Amino acid sequence: MKVFSTKRLPGNLYEKLIAQGLEIEIRENDAGELSTEALIENCKGIDILISAGYASLDAQTLKALSSVKLICLYSVGYDHVDLDAAKKLGIQVTNTPDVLSQATADIAFLLLQATARKAFYLANTVKEGSWGAFDPLAHLGQELDGKTLGIIGLGKIGYHMAKRCKDAFGMKIIYHNRSQRKEYEKDLPAEYVSLEELYKNSDVISLHMNLNDSSYHMIDASAFAQMRSNAILINTARGDIIKQDDLVKALEEKQIWGAGLDVTSPEPLPQDHPLVHFPQVCILPHIGSATRETRDAMSEIVFRNIAAFFDGKELVTSLF
Ligand code: DGY
Repeated sequence: MKVFSTKRLPGNLYEKLIAQGLEIEIRENDAGELSTEALIENCKGIDILISAGYASLDAQTLKALSSVKLICLYSVGYDHVDLDAAKKLGIQVTNTPDVLSQATADIAFLLLQATARKAFYLANTVKEGSWGAFDPLAHLGQELDGKTLGIIGLGKIGYHMAKRCKDAFGMKIIYHNRSQRKEYEKDLPAEYVSLEELYKNSDVISLHMNLNDSSYHMIDASAFAQMRSNAILINTARGDIIKQDDLVKALEEKQIWGAGLDVTSPEPLPQDHPLVHFPQVCILPHIGSATRETRDAMSEIVFRNIAAFFDGKELVTSLF
């Protein structure tokens, strides 16, 4: 069986796959983004595709990957893949759940603190030499102790973010989800509320839902209009959940305090995008899962899925 890996992954999965008798082709990480045409070309005669990154695997592309029987995503998110089309074409798809929940929650928590204290913007004043004299009225942030955190999408990542906020700042946790999560409600504790209540009562809103038709641009002007003027919006899920032009307007009009974003639309976000220049906006280049431990664990899941597929066994993290 032949495997094509769109990027070189960390860990020793390739050695282990070769030892199992698989043939591996790897596109090196300095080769730039792979176009759809090049992906299709590279996948000729390939049985298993390891897909790292968020390039679209839409129905048309999947159809063109005619020899591919298994796609292993190197991400927990799968919004870039047409799963219905894959299923119809008989292509199995796996992702990397659970192992990145804590690392991603760490980034949400880091962005929250950085945004509350304008840390990225102020760190830049040091680099640029514009530190200036002490001014009791300048650089004022806001404290998080005892504030209310509203989680939208209380899965594992949302849970770990809530836990961090509860343990560090004694924050009150409210949440909205497609269905109630009784186990988390009890453990945190957290209270299930409507979206309207969440917007109205949260000092911090952290997004942890999947991107799909119902969450696309869900955080728009009408959502911002319901939020508190001190609200901090955190997004480590997907950029397209927020209608970014409406976020810019909400920040300009001081409808909310600020935003901490690990994901944007597009990625990379152009340097001259208005969001880049607000003191109360902290942006990171989509590094939720980027720790040595987590990326190794993600590689291990890819290995286990391919090994199971090779042995004709049940996949470890099948998406259907
Ligand atoms: C994923 O793996 O989908 C996440 O975006 C990591 O940050």
